[in-house]
Amino acid sequence: MSAYLLPGQPHFERRGADLFAEGVRLSDLARQYGTPLFVYSKASMLDALGAYQRGFAGRKARIHYAMKANSSLAVLQVFAQAGCGFDIVSGGELERALAAGARPADIIFSGVGKTRAEMQQALAIGIGCFNVESEAELEVLSQVACAAGKTAQVSIRVNPNVDPKTHPYISTGLKGNKFGVAHERTLQTYKRAASLPGLQVAGIDCHIGSQITENGPYLDAMDRVLDLVQAIEAAGIPLRHIDFGGGLGINYSGVQPPAADALWAQLFAKLDARGFGDRQFMIEPGRSLVGNAGVCLTEVLYMKPGEQKNFCIIDAAMNDLPRPAMYQAFHEIVPVNAREGATLLCDVVGPVCESGDWIGHDRALNTHAGDLLAVMSAGAYCMSMASNYNTRGRAAEVLVDGGKATLIRERESAGDQMLRERLVP
Ligand code: LLP
Repeated sequence: MSAYLLPGQPHFERRGADLFAEGVRLSDLARQYGTPLFVYSKASMLDALGAYQRGFAGRKARIHYAMKANSSLAVLQVFAQAGCGFDIVSGGELERALAAGARPADIIFSGVGKTRAEMQQALAIGIGCFNVESEAELEVLSQVACAAGKTAQVSIRVNPNVDPKTHPYISTGLKGNKFGVAHERTLQTYKRAASLPGLQVAGIDCHIGSQITENGPYLDAMDRVLDLVQAIEAAGIPLRHIDFGGGLGINYSGVQPPAADALWAQLFAKLDARGFGDRQFMIEPGRSLVGNAGVCLTEVLYMKPGEQKNFCIIDAAMNDLPRPAMYQAFHEIVPVNAREGATLLCDVVGPVCESGDWIGHDRALNTHAGDLLAVMSAGAYCMSMASNYNTRGRAAEVLVDGGKATLIRERESAGDQMLRERLVP
């Protein structure tokens, strides 16, 4: 069998019949650590980051990894060591970022529902900026900052009302979404921010959605944000930075989104043409940095042929890989050790007691009970969204770097899950 590279995942390679992550044979990891097992390639993460870094060469730009995509400590550590800041959305993420070695000033805080306690925590630590999402939040942040004797740097997340052409659950920049301040109210909100004590206006922010596979929505959003920058500055409120959010998609199923450097070449051409090329830029990519850097290894438990459908029952489930159930998302599923011979069309499903617990529909596989499968593109929004439904422990995780594999998270036991529960005496 000839070696081939899986699309968008150059560090996951088949050699002979066996799948490798960088220099490590995946079946060896499954044997050593059990399944389900997430395996990440450090080289993939750094390659993905490299595309952004190339796009930003010679520009004033900072990359804040949107850690909600994958917040495992060792993954954060890779990005912290590579010089990234972090985009957080909770006090918990703040603690994780710090534990992984982030500098407080390199942290920005997004999200529509920050609590007073989270604001206090972030101000005490001295984070770089709050991305504020409503006028009500501005008022509360001003009160909290004044009470703490601090000044909060703020950037207002504007809703540019642009269709990102992605799944409705992950579209965020349209009028009907809960996110950001409406385009028409932006100037008024900036004037209020500039007048409130304890706040200093630092920049402007937008994020239009996730898994975006075209340039058009970004270019449209950029135009609308730049119109706002002009209007805000004309009103005497200077903006130090422009934060363009995250959202660039990855190749899950053959649809190839633009490369980060190519997208930014187009965005900078527009910025230069409009005279904004030398501003401080920020971005908040999540999925595009980690999505194709991870796979989930799983064992086939049973083959269950049926009259209408054949089922391939695996030991990973919707609690490990929630994206198919939540967004009807497609993840490629491939054998870890390829077999010669005919394939069978089957639904790949988990053991959870719900029909929604499927990982792939109508997949042509030549596989038997006891075989290993790899669910591809599982680096983003899988482990970070994993749950304990059916009292299933969350999977273990391994980070591969060249020929070296490190266990970065132990498998969660039932005891771990019950740790904070009490029987009534
Ligand atoms: N910045 C903000 C304010 C965000 O809300 C998000 C993602 C990002 C940055 C990073 O977006 P990315 O570069 O990863 O597209 N669970 C869904 C995706 C939810 C995205 C939420 N916000 C999924 O599995 O498809």
